[in-house]
Amino acid sequence: MCGIVGYIGKENASKILIDLTRSLEYRGYDSAGIAIYDSKENKFLIKKTTGTIDRIKQEILNEIDGTTGISHTRWATHGKINEKNAHPQISSNSKILIVHNGIVENYQEIKNNLIKSGYNFTSETDSEIIANLIEFNLAESEIKDALEKTMDSITGSSSIVGISKDSPNDIFLIKKGNSGGLVISENKSGEKIICSDPTIITKFSDSYRYLVDNEIAIISKHKNNFIRENKEPNKRVVNIKTNTILEDNETYQYKMEEEIFYQKKSIKRIIDDKNDLIINKLNESNIKFENIQRVLVIGMGSSFNAGLLGSYYFESISSLKSETINASEFIDSKRIIDSNDLVIGVTQSGETAETIKALEYAKSKGAKTISVTEKNISQASIISDTNVNIGCGPEYAVASTKTFTATALTLYIISVYLSRDNENKKNLENNLLGLDSKIESLLLDTKDTKEIAKILSSKEHILYLGRGIMYPIAMEGALKMKEICYIHSEGYAAGEMKHGVNALIGDNMPSIVLCPPDETYPKMISTINEIQARNGEVIGLIDKDDDNTNKLLSNYLTIESHNFFIDPILYVIQLQLISLYSSLRLKINPDRPRNLAKTVTVE
Ligand code: G6P
Repeated sequence: MCGIVGYIGKENASKILIDLTRSLEYRGYDSAGIAIYDSKENKFLIKKTTGTIDRIKQEILNEIDGTTGISHTRWATHGKINEKNAHPQISSNSKILIVHNGIVENYQEIKNNLIKSGYNFTSETDSEIIANLIEFNLAESEIKDALEKTMDSITGSSSIVGISKDSPNDIFLIKKGNSGGLVISENKSGEKIICSDPTIITKFSDSYRYLVDNEIAIISKHKNNFIRENKEPNKRVVNIKTNTILEDNETYQYKMEEEIFYQKKSIKRIIDDKNDLIINKLNESNIKFENIQRVLVIGMGSSFNAGLLGSYYFESISSLKSETINASEFIDSKRIIDSNDLVIGVTQSGETAETIKALEYAKSKGAKTISVTEKNISQASIISDTNVNIGCGPEYAVASTKTFTATALTLYIISVYLSRDNENKKNLENNLLGLDSKIESLLLDTKDTKEIAKILSSKEHILYLGRGIMYPIAMEGALKMKEICYIHSEGYAAGEMKHGVNALIGDNMPSIVLCPPDETYPKMISTINEIQARNGEVIGLIDKDDDNTNKLLSNYLTIESHNFFIDPILYVIQLQLISLYSSLRLKINPDRPRNLAKTVTVE
């Protein structure tokens, strides 16, 4: 998994490639590399490093000059994090250089055959076989045929960008399956950029060509030659319209902090612009919503947790049967899916491999599909019947925060749209009014939250407990704590405690209990009592007007309730803050947690 960049133009490619590679580091940041063609010496200049590209920035700028090049930022799949495994990968006779996103599933078999033919391998990556296989095929054919043969021989999903020494001013691209985005963009001065994410090149150009499955192109200064072109899709050439971020005058040390605090603005934007972002898209869609009998929501990570909340909305607001399924289990769980199902793929990036695959599977079974993303175009939007935009602007910190709440709100709005109870619709819509002010006041005073973070950051294990509508929030709270604090945390349905989990209660395992003023309240009080009876430590998230629970607890945070359906958004923001402040106490960079990436394009 990774970020890919390519440049053909007249400027010094090094600087452009470094800047764009840095912008793609949310896709992986364990190692990086760059290759630029030096026309004077007729050779490629290559530099690689572990860590981010900034580690070799100065060396690159001092030593590498040229106007055509490729670069890469890696998230390791095959082989350890070291320079040899970093990209670009180079073929045995140094004729082909490639950067790669995806997995070559049959790489071992191809590698064995190439070794028999005398090819050497210096890395542990699957990607190196691509460079060698192209070089091998090139011995008997032209580059066009060599690329086609290579595409046909490899299995799995791959996005490949590379250069051949025979035509070093051209860049070739192969797109097989759905392994992350790949776009070609050109500006008025004739410069061309290839990269994984169009939103990082909005300053360069506002139009781009999005490659889809089974496409091969060779890009040169004056033309883009599509050797294989998928004729079907009509969504490939588009203008970039990113969701503008509303002004924020405050400065933050970390992106995650900025994104948490931005929620007071993003939530208002979604409420104000819900027609543009959501309702009009649903109205324009060719899905016959009146025929839908079940809503299946699929997603991974935070998107899965937001989906759980969505299913709660679809059942209780739209009166439709609903279930949220981990996208990686969607196909393997052998569910029966048919044309009366609406499958909603929740993925802020629009690229998560499991979610894309599950959406494709749902489509193949005749289900209607909606993608809920932050992007205007993505793998998910291309596949699905309709794309709905969550409207909160791009998120850069690995752990999702504003995209979680924006997704939850979007699913709420879709559930109201699908509700057949027309009389109640207005009330359900009105539930949103004033939510942004509540968020603003919650974010105004974080003193107590920091105190709770002080307690939690010294623990090894934490339980997050919720019931009903708060169960997904317990899951999401625990996920944030794992992601950015490396503390073992589990989100549980509070009722599950006595069926095994109680055995874990002890000094080093506090429980965060979500205790809103709703029908679950009496049972949550029982949960608190049961934990305390076993000498367990409880930290409560309780309602501002709750004068009983505070007497039971020595540590708690209060939340001003807004509305039963919407309160999960307020509770989750408090949990996001707890994790952020715990992470800072632990001196972890919350934006770049170990072993993770924001956009996960491999299965
Ligand atoms: C990765 C990210 C998570 C995210 C998940 C799903 O694991 O680190 O923050 O929730 O992918 O991403 P998606 O783009 O599909 O919402």
